Amino acid sequence: MTRNKQLEDLHEVIRNCTLCPLHETRINAVPGEGPATSRVMFVGEAPGAREDESGRPFVGKSGELLTSMIQEIGLSRETVFITSILKSRPPKNRTPTQFEISACRPYLERQIEIINPKVVVLLGGVAISSLVGPWKLSEAHGRFYETDNRTYFMTYHPAAALRIPKVKKSMQEDFQILSQELV
Ligand code: URA
Repeated sequence: MTRNKQLEDLHEVIRNCTLCPLHETRINAVPGEGPATSRVMFVGEAPGAREDESGRPFVGKSGELLTSMIQEIGLSRETVFITSILKSRPPKNRTPTQFEISACRPYLERQIEIINPKVVVLLGGVAISSLVGPWKLSEAHGRFYETDNRTYFMTYHPAAALRIPKVKKSMQEDFQILSQELV
């Protein structure tokens, strides 16, 4: 089976998922999007209102900023894979629970396995703590972390960068560090 087909089949399972109570309140599950051959994968926290309505990741204000930061380092949104730790929106965008994160985790693990990216970029504290452990964001950002034959890169979530200009600047600097690894 091609990687594309494996990813499509997985995404169909995610769209119909009922493993946690979020399936009762969501409009659409948001598996993620991008080529099955992406070298870079971006992982956020959870879908928001716009993502829930459209079924697509990072299409709201945070998504606009993420897309422009991706472009600033010479990549395009169409060539990277974008997803989040949770595939369904928590009501009122509350922080994901440990139960939801654990229930959703095999989906992200399978996406990483199929795509086999060179770098998995973790956007913000929830993505970082879910995949590589309890780092302080102020110490983690701008760093690569290798574990289980995977390379992760830790940075801020674009929603924080939208609120705090200093964080936006740090995140842009982090993206420059990331881009050097991708040449
Ligand atoms: N924030 C996220 O973490 N993921 C999305 O898909 C949208 C906003």
